[in-house]
Amino acid sequence: MKGVILAGGLATRLRPLTLVTNKHLLPVYNKPMIYYPMEMMRKVGMKEVLLITSGEHVGDFANLLKSGDEFDMRLYYAIQQNPTGGISDALKLAEEFAHHEPLLVILGDNIFNFDLQKSIDRFERFLEKDKRAAMVFGVHRDTEARQYGVIEMDDKGKVLSIEEKPEKPRSDIAQTGIYLYDHRVFDFVRELKPSARGQLEVTDLNNVYLKEKSLMCEVIDWWVDAGTSHDELLAANLQVAERVKQGKL
Ligand code: G1P
Repeated sequence: MKGVILAGGLATRLRPLTLVTNKHLLPVYNKPMIYYPMEMMRKVGMKEVLLITSGEHVGDFANLLKSGDEFDMRLYYAIQQNPTGGISDALKLAEEFAHHEPLLVILGDNIFNFDLQKSIDRFERFLEKDKRAAMVFGVHRDTEARQYGVIEMDDKGKVLSIEEKPEKPRSDIAQTGIYLYDHRVFDFVRELKPSARGQLEVTDLNNVYLKEKSLMCEVIDWWVDAGTSHDELLAANLQVAERVKQGKL
């Protein structure tokens, strides 16, 4: 398995903080935001990780993270020319790097601390048996689920639907930015069409797996998307500080 961290985008929602820097380099409590997914990659023993970002900021990431030694990995960089193409579009850049292996994808502004290794083990067992698998992770979000992908599940944990930022959410489970895909992911990405907002959506990709019944979902209890708004960034700082002090992160 190989790791991919997506750290591109324009982060217009965080301006003016992001006018001269990339949002994933902004501080969250005592570290740059990008450290959190990097540390998670290290925690699950990912030896090769590709960081995808814009040409404008790739030098800053390279200055900060260098070749990944500090995180016990070999870090590679890819430049996303089209920052508004969407998550699935950015993933295309990882095809050669992935070299037919399954992928762990983490959005660079996602912070969480559940036992991801356990989920990867479950994914791999499933993949071994069925030869095809993908996994998404959801989190209960009472009022603001509609600003995310929304996952509808039955009481046995089976995914019924995933909709991107629906007007009327069918559940309160938000789709996080943590994904596991088998090696066919690039074939599926090639088939996607841009959404109404002009992006190749990760939700459309996940729906391909859902349709062929190879999609699993786990609900996690704590997750912050630090890059959505100024309030989320502030909340991320406060929650991370609290958790670090409690020894939970
Ligand atoms: C993206 C995904 C969405 C997911 C979110 C998690 O949204 O499209 O399904 O819930 O990441 O951070 P975006 O940040 O592109 O609005």
